[in-house]
Amino acid sequence: MTKTNTKQPLDTKILVSSIQNIDMCAEQIKKGNIVAFATETVYGLGANALDAKAIKKIFEAKGRPSDNPLIVHVDSVEKIEQIAFVTEKAKRAVNAFMPGPLTIVLKKKPNVPDEVTAGLDTIAIRIPSHPVALQLIKSADCPIAAPSANISQSPSPTTAAHVHDDLSGKVQYILDGGSSDIGLESTVLDFSNEDKITLLREGGLPLEDLCVVLGPIRAFESAQDVEDGIEAPRCPGLKYKHYSPFTMVAVVEYKSDDVLIDRLKQLKKEQKKVLVLRLLKKGGKDFFIKLNSDKIVSFETVDEYAKSLFYEFREADKQEFDVILCQKAPAVGIGNSVNSRLEKAATC
Ligand code: TXA
Ligand code: MG
Repeated sequence: MTKTNTKQPLDTKILVSSIQNIDMCAEQIKKGNIVAFATETVYGLGANALDAKAIKKIFEAKGRPSDNPLIVHVDSVEKIEQIAFVTEKAKRAVNAFMPGPLTIVLKKKPNVPDEVTAGLDTIAIRIPSHPVALQLIKSADCPIAAPSANISQSPSPTTAAHVHDDLSGKVQYILDGGSSDIGLESTVLDFSNEDKITLLREGGLPLEDLCVVLGPIRAFESAQDVEDGIEAPRCPGLKYKHYSPFTMVAVVEYKSDDVLIDRLKQLKKEQKKVLVLRLLKKGGKDFFIKLNSDKIVSFETVDEYAKSLFYEFREADKQEFDVILCQKAPAVGIGNSVNSRLEKAATC
């Protein structure tokens, strides 16, 4: 009989996060398998970061290019020191913001397989604050490498059901920890050059908060980078398209609602089925109902917008909208992170 290479799809199960289930998933990680789990930012797809074979399973399940390195999740500062060289400034950030939605990039130690870091001499590390993630790391007793638990290039999942939509058949267990509180991925900050702390990805932790503790932080792709002729993206993931639903995304500035209404009228003239995502302004009128748009989601706070953005993107795909019309958030705090995701997703 000839041997075929086709793998049988796994029978994917969403599990409540009881201690027993977390321990069982930790055993899976120890055995070299992959498990999806809740974090406070987005759901992750995890494997033992010190097991090169297990890491390959993550890339396979996601369809992720192997030159895009992973974030390693640990549960304490001591564990960071086992896999990376922690600089003084990085220690300040760790003390102020971890556990939480911050990832730091440091020079890696040799025990970390190249598969995790895509051959770079640096490693991205984060201590998540979600109790399910923390308990899983403790119980597995190893660093857990985990990218977002979506198929490459689709929006990160913020619920167990959305992980299931993407990875059914490819992962056996999904540890359900409810909707992710923050809803956007962690902020990624590069400390590997002590003189220049560089923001590689805006995310769940606002830049302003980081600057209070660390002083000025430069944004990657600043004018200076161009002048310096820096070519290779320092955050390899940046060169890939991200966060995009299948539905077209149109983005308008956060100015008056008139800009939003004009764009909406135009889309309705073109007979489009539109989902509107907007921030409710104080004293703003609810004129939208009169326009008879298909669905309007008005967020009361920017935090709510961040939390629901990827969720709404995915729901729009399911409900077959033609266009998601998004109003940007004010350019402060996590509003900047929302706007960065909108800019990346914009298609029309
Ligand atoms: O909130 C999050 O960060 C989630 C949860 C699961 O922790 N994870 C996540 O992972 O968003 P992922 O793989 O989707 O995004 C990680 C980003 C990528 O853009 C990757 O290129 C970058 O971090 N990255 C990883 N290692 C790096 C390194 N050594 N140097 C620079 N960038 C790195
Ligand atoms: Mg991702």
